[in-house]
Amino acid sequence: MCLDKARSWIETASSITALTGAGISAESGIPTFRGATGLWKQFRPEDLATPRAFARNPELVWQWYDWRRSLIHTAQPNAGHGALSELETRVPRFTLITQNVDGLHQRAGSRNVLEIHGSIWKLRCTKCRRQWHDMSVPLELPPHCQCGAFARPAVVWFGEGLPEDVWAAAGQASTECDVFLVVGTSAIVYPAAGLIDLARAAGAKVIEVNVERTAISAYADCALTGPAGEVLPELLRTPPSSASRLAPEIER
Ligand code: OAD
Repeated sequence: MCLDKARSWIETASSITALTGAGISAESGIPTFRGATGLWKQFRPEDLATPRAFARNPELVWQWYDWRRSLIHTAQPNAGHGALSELETRVPRFTLITQNVDGLHQRAGSRNVLEIHGSIWKLRCTKCRRQWHDMSVPLELPPHCQCGAFARPAVVWFGEGLPEDVWAAAGQASTECDVFLVVGTSAIVYPAAGLIDLARAAGAKVIEVNVERTAISAYADCALTGPAGEVLPELLRTPPSSASRLAPEIER
C-alpha cells in the first residue's frame, strides 16, 4: 500500500525536502490561487501581481496585499504545518521550500524554510532596495522607505526572477534528498514546479499530498489524496499493526 511505503521511505530517509503551496494553508482559512474559490478567479494577476501593475497603480496593489495580510494575520497554522515542523525534528536533514508568502510554516515552528516567492511580511524599497520586516495590520498606505521612495511587497511577482541565493539553496536541497514531499501545490508554476523534476531525476522518492490530482500525480511515487491537515499527520504517524485509518484514493 502506497501510504505504508511512503511511511517507510520517510522513516529511513536521512534527507527530506518538502515543497509546499497555497493548499497547505487552505485549512487555516487562507484562499488558494486556483480552483473554484481561488484568488485568481476573483482577481486578475496582471492587475495585482506584476511589476507593471505596481507601476500603474501602487495603491491598488497595496490595498490587495494589505487585505491579504489582514487575512493571514488572524489565521493560525494548521495540523499540516505542524506535521512538517515535527518532521524537521526527526530527520538529519530537512529543508522546507515554500511558494507561500504567509509565514505560517515559521509560526508552526519550522526552521529551515526557503521562501522562494518571498514574504508578505517583508517590504522592499523600490529605489535603494533596502528590505525590512513590517508586521503591522493594516499598513499605512502606501508605505514608504526611510529614503522617501515607495516600498513594495518583498514578494516575487509574475515576470520576476526568484531570489538567487534562496533559489540556489532550493535546487541543492532538491537534488540531495532521499524523499521529496510535494504538498498543496498545483505544480504548474515554474520555476518552482521544476524542483520536482530535479528531485526525481536525482533519484528521490516523490510523495504528493493534495486534495485532488495534479500535473504530477501520475508520476509521483505515491500520490495521497486528502487535506494536508489530515494526510500529513497520518503519513508521519507510526502505524499500529492494523490497517491505517485513512484510505488514500490514489495509490501507485
Ligand atoms: P494553487 O492555488 O495553484 O494550488 C493550490 C493546490 O492546493 C491545488 O492543487 C489544490 O488542489 C490544493 N489544495 C487545496 N486545499 C488543499 C488542502 N487542504 N490540502 C492539500 N492540498 C490542497 O497554489 P500554488 O500551487 O501554491 O505565485 O500556486 C503557485 C504560485 O502561483 C503561487 O505561489 C502564486 C500563484 O500565482 C505568485 O504569486 C508568483
